[in-house]
Amino acid sequence: MTDAASDLAHLPEAYRANVERVLITSEEISTKLDELAAEVSRDYAGEELLLVGVLKGAIFVVADLHRLLTVPAAVDFMAVSSYGSATTSSGVVRILKDLEAEIEGRHVLVVEDIVDSGLTLDYLLKNLRSRRPASVEVLSLLTKPSRREVDLPIRYVGFEVPDVFVVGYGLDFAEHYRGLGDIVTLKPEAYGG
Ligand code: IMP
Repeated sequence: MTDAASDLAHLPEAYRANVERVLITSEEISTKLDELAAEVSRDYAGEELLLVGVLKGAIFVVADLHRLLTVPAAVDFMAVSSYGSATTSSGVVRILKDLEAEIEGRHVLVVEDIVDSGLTLDYLLKNLRSRRPASVEVLSLLTKPSRREVDLPIRYVGFEVPDVFVVGYGLDFAEHYRGLGDIVTLKPEAYGG
């Protein structure tokens, strides 16, 4: 993570005014994904993986991780929605899109953008385990440990972030900012914080 209140000149102009600072640069994300992919590839050597991306935030993590893996991997997606206010999770989860694949007997790696309270992932893991996969592990690019409400086994973690709302690299606020290469914080006035 960088402390620099970095140069934001490369960000789209429409977003620049709302950005407070760059928390994690695209280069740092790329380096971290190299490390995580190497670890996953080592751990699953000789096996086949099913990557389960959680839409929409995990789209870039899934895409970039998948291209770095040296083990065979299939990809599927789930979309879940938690009721509640825009920037916090209520723990009540609805499945908006289920997997197309059967996961019984398969090695599943859930790929997340961020684990905040953990309530969404907790629900998802219980749901997936009930389908009797051979194994279920989690990779999350980001985690906010100080916000955790349930104890969760996250096997692969990219970065720990403080209790701040972040966007970019798949993470959105009201569907904006997902396409930023960097992970940034927004000025409070940009999200009503
Ligand atoms: P949890 O159930 O509280 O762990 O929340 C998980 C979901 O909330 C994530 O998958 C994100 O979609 C969203 N979320 C939590 N924190 C942030 C954030 O800082 N920025 C953008 N989305 C977030």
